[in-house]
Amino acid sequence: MAQRSRITSLSHRSGPVALASIAVLWLAACAPSDSGVTSPPLPGTDVAPSVGLTAAFGEPFPNLTPDQLALFTAGRDEFAAVEAVDEGLGPVFNEASCQTCHLGPGTAVGGTTGRLETRFGRTRSDGTFDPMPEFGGSLIQDRGIGAVSVHGDFTFVGEVVPAEATVKTQRITTQLFGLGLVDAVPDDEFRQLALLEAATSPATAGTPNMVLDIAAKRTRVGRFGWKAQVPTLHQFSGDAYLNEMGITNPEFPNESCPQGDCAALLHNPVPALNDDGSGVQKFTDFMTLLAAPPRGPVSAQTLVGNLVFAGIGCANCHTPVLVSGNSPVAALSGKAFQPFGDFLLHDMGSLGDGIVQGSSTPRQMRTAPLWGVRTRSQLLHDGRATSIEAAILAHDGQGGQARNRFAALSTTARQALLAFLNSL
Ligand code: HEC
Ligand code: HEC
Repeated sequence: MAQRSRITSLSHRSGPVALASIAVLWLAACAPSDSGVTSPPLPGTDVAPSVGLTAAFGEPFPNLTPDQLALFTAGRDEFAAVEAVDEGLGPVFNEASCQTCHLGPGTAVGGTTGRLETRFGRTRSDGTFDPMPEFGGSLIQDRGIGAVSVHGDFTFVGEVVPAEATVKTQRITTQLFGLGLVDAVPDDEFRQLALLEAATSPATAGTPNMVLDIAAKRTRVGRFGWKAQVPTLHQFSGDAYLNEMGITNPEFPNESCPQGDCAALLHNPVPALNDDGSGVQKFTDFMTLLAAPPRGPVSAQTLVGNLVFAGIGCANCHTPVLVSGNSPVAALSGKAFQPFGDFLLHDMGSLGDGIVQGSSTPRQMRTAPLWGVRTRSQLLHDGRATSIEAAILAHDGQGGQARNRFAALSTTARQALLAFLNSL
């Protein structure tokens, strides 16, 4: 098993400088929502941030030390490694490696193949959400390891949505590029951003998803996943290792009960803890050090499109610039970067997926960051949109006004906006 990594948990203290700069950059990029597209040019959100933070898809951040590069490579190998049943895969699982879902564009490790997975649940009579753990919910593991002869013969099969479920939704695999920067954003910065949104654009303002940080044993601001339901890359690694692959690990020590049937685990061929934490740490290292997506070519048209983006209120939620706090990786400390997302929850009306995680409501979704969107062919949480235009037109709830403004744009302004989005 691997030695422990030198990348330990990230510090979450926020400096006043970082908060001041995020406010300035955010306000600069976010014109008042009724300003239309005729606003004067806005100070460059296109140029200064992100310098030294992007690389070709799947490559590490520039400016890493040789030790960090070695951690990146070892982490990437583990991320690609296909687990076998005798290593703990299953008994129920979705795929046998992280990379099976997180690959692309092309051969870049850490992106998305567009693999969908299914969640279900039901609404209780008092209106609250029931993830139906007794049926194996809310996440489906759609594959089983098959026939075993452990305490008698038994066959593990993939789970299905039970007839009793009233909520059923799919979620598409997201890209992981640049998420080390998001991990290094202090909780306070997201809280301040939510306050700033409430003050400047209350109709579209987001809220943090408050979730349990298992390692820290306290509630923190979630930021990862379609509902911002996970607070750190480390926790997501352990969560995915268990819930996607069936590999138990220190923070997630209990196998998922196949279709909710915990008695079936009597036949689990590898009941002992499957990963001692070193695998989880390697995934974390890889994702922490994976560079942000490279920007596509910027032209006069994309610059106009950037103004349209701010002018019709897209940037209210798709925040152009965030600033990382302190990180043990010097290359990631105190850096302004451009995810085009605030990682906060917004009520998206009919676009909500009906699932509750952390403090989210059924209709709230995390603003999807738009960096790298030009490489994606299926958009929105369930992949329902096959074009950027279709994705925008499906915005509802707090996103409804921006959708209507988009629909009312002149052809020139619409083309400029789409050119801009296709440069991200
Ligand atoms: C079966 C496909 C599949 C496998 C295997 C898989 N993932 Fe994912 N991954 C997804 C999906 C789907 C999502 C979105 C999940 C959600 O929000 O509910 C996701 C989201 C993530 C995120 C959150 C990124 C963001 O946008 O905030 C991280 C981090 C992640 N996966 C890491 C991993 C790691 C590490 C592994 C291997 C241990 C792994 N994944 C294995 C499908 C997969
Ligand atoms: C109220 C906040 C809000 C506003 C305003 C908003 N969006 Fe979004 N956007 C979201 C959320 C939340 C999602 C994720 C929806 C989901 O879960 O399917 C999203 C998703 C997207 C996606 C799909 C990304 C992906 O990875 O699948 C695109 C493209 C997009 N928005 C573009 C825009 C554009 C362009 C505008 C302006 C016309 C805009 N958005 C306005 C919140 C917003």
